[in-house]
Amino acid sequence: MTRHFLKDTDLSPAEQAEVLQLAAEMKQFPYRYQPFAGDGAGRKTVAVIFDKTSTRTRVSFASGISDLGGVPLIINPGESQLGHKETVSDTIKVMERMVSTVVWRTYAHSGLEEMAAISKVPVINSLSDDYHPCQLLADLLTVQEHKGKLAGLTMAYLGDAANNMANSYLLAGVTAGMHVRIGGPEGYLPADSVVAEAEARAAETGGSVQITTEPAQALAGADVIATDTWVSMGQEDEKAQRLELFKDYAVDQGALKLAAGDAIVLHCLPAYRGYEISADVIDGPQSVVWDEAENRLHAQKALMAWLMDKSALAPLATA
Ligand code: CP
Ligand code: NVA
Repeated sequence: MTRHFLKDTDLSPAEQAEVLQLAAEMKQFPYRYQPFAGDGAGRKTVAVIFDKTSTRTRVSFASGISDLGGVPLIINPGESQLGHKETVSDTIKVMERMVSTVVWRTYAHSGLEEMAAISKVPVINSLSDDYHPCQLLADLLTVQEHKGKLAGLTMAYLGDAANNMANSYLLAGVTAGMHVRIGGPEGYLPADSVVAEAEARAAETGGSVQITTEPAQALAGADVIATDTWVSMGQEDEKAQRLELFKDYAVDQGALKLAAGDAIVLHCLPAYRGYEISADVIDGPQSVVWDEAENRLHAQKALMAWLMDKSALAPLATA
């Protein structure tokens, strides 16, 4: 059966741990696995489709696919027929005959679900309006590196708590057995369905979920603090109103004081200094955002190799 990765809970807790362990190994030995090398392994080309712009996702997937013996085919916004001239279903029926894996950054999450439902090759969500699960694999790898563990830690996310990053922090964090607190204003909190899914996962792992409108409640004693832009891609028209709406949820020195003294700070980037995060925090000693950005590469390589193995398209064997 072909395995896909559309949202954080598509990996069980044990599978998430396996992928993170593989990522740590690949960080140390970048060329150990070659699932896209051809010659008995999967096809060489991996398609990476962008309906929205990107720096990290584009560079980390392109580099990672090369490291794994493959050739990245980057399709930038507006460069294919998908979405305006051709359906998702017709597109994937063609692509699955030519590439090993399809990575797609898009708007509506339903497009990814439609693609994965019929695709014979792994489909990876590299950001949708609802989830950014590849980012969370990188974030968890970063926390693991800096804190030596994940389960039992408290992770607080502040800001636009209804966006893709908030949902992914919630789902991926509890999958790792973390206590996840999400803080944002009324009306901009995770949907009930996402909270219910996170609570069910937390019951399996010993993690927990707290949703609050009080920043101080989210931050109290937290080991990890995370935030994200207040204006996600596609929300540019709401910018002025959003900057006002989230201003009490900024990660600044005052916020850091409420968390644990050795708390680390995550931001998926791009960051807007002076809005969701202050310059002295993101550029300060508790920030781990550059490790986090680098870990996109290692985490996604592990994910791609793991999905190829589990989908019986290329065994996870050392080169
Ligand atoms: N964090 C992240 O996904 O960055 P890009 O939008 O630059 O890919
Ligand atoms: N929430 C942001 C994440 C960017 C990586 C967005 O969707 O634009």
